[in-house]
Amino acid sequence: MEQLLQQIELYKQDISSYTAATAAEVEAFRIKYLGTKGLVKDVMGEMKNVPNDQKKQFGLILNEFKLFAEDRWNSLKEAVDNAAGDSIDDAIDLTLPGSPVNIGTRHPLSIVRNRVVDIFKSLGFSLAEGPEMEDDWHNFGAMNLPENHPARDMQDTFYISQNPSWLLRTHTSSVQARVMETQKPPIRVICPGRVYRNETISARAHCFFHQVEGLYIDENVSFADLKQTLYHFVKEMFGNDVKIRFRPSYFPFTEPSAEMDISCLICGGDGCNVCKHTGWVEILGSGMVHPKVLENFGIDPNKYTGFAFGMGIERICQLKYRVNDLRLYSQNDLRFLQQFTAAT
Ligand code: DAH
Repeated sequence: MEQLLQQIELYKQDISSYTAATAAEVEAFRIKYLGTKGLVKDVMGEMKNVPNDQKKQFGLILNEFKLFAEDRWNSLKEAVDNAAGDSIDDAIDLTLPGSPVNIGTRHPLSIVRNRVVDIFKSLGFSLAEGPEMEDDWHNFGAMNLPENHPARDMQDTFYISQNPSWLLRTHTSSVQARVMETQKPPIRVICPGRVYRNETISARAHCFFHQVEGLYIDENVSFADLKQTLYHFVKEMFGNDVKIRFRPSYFPFTEPSAEMDISCLICGGDGCNVCKHTGWVEILGSGMVHPKVLENFGIDPNKYTGFAFGMGIERICQLKYRVNDLRLYSQNDLRFLQQFTAAT
């Protein structure tokens, strides 16, 4: 009988140290000890070998062993059930609304540039682009701004230090040169892009900004075509109530040249800081392409004429969105950028 008691002691140790993390492991414990072929049944079967005078004492021990195994089974089961309960509490609540994914917005300069390009595309202009790092010829020489021409001073230029015959383009008029070099008339292009000037950064000036250039060359293109095209553009861009005026001006690459003003959208023409109390805001330079410029690209000025114009995108943005500090466009402040939508 001594042996049987030792065996029970060993089983008890095994039962105490038994752990179960899953329901399957709890069930394995039940089968091992409490199943119909389990060890508890096994041990109970030993009763028949116990001498009669010890049966009572052994009966108590065996019963206590059975309860010991059942207790352990109950507590293992409870622990696993509770853990499962916890994990249900922790699980994601699928009925909650999802966390929003913010949709990005277009930069105000992109919105305006796309709008300008679309308006001219609808008139049959096609998109053209050129490099931001240019040579002297395409930026100045070809556009009738020879070396030492005083008009070069109008645009403070960034030169590339390794090779001063290269520069950062000061205007998108360089794209006109690139187009006339590669295309034959009729030419009708709209050229948006970034330009650079060596200016101190402030609310009103920046070392880079954006322009859109237009160029139309064909037989019989007149100043009337220039005016009508730009009238149409302004109405599409700003609406029918905006007033327009042309002022004679000077650009080396156009003759005659004109600047175009529109009535101030901020004060409605009454006078404010933006229009410097004149009621008018300049939005672009324009003119008939200078015969010399046409000749530079082998285009016969006796057969072909053309008009060109260039406008600053920031200025149009300022009028459309009332942004009064140019630095905002390149600071990437989301509080600023998130206020613009393509529909406006
Ligand atoms: N390139 C000029 C500037 O940056 C703008 C300009 C004026 C462009 C007259 C033109 C034009 O095409 O005809 O100030």
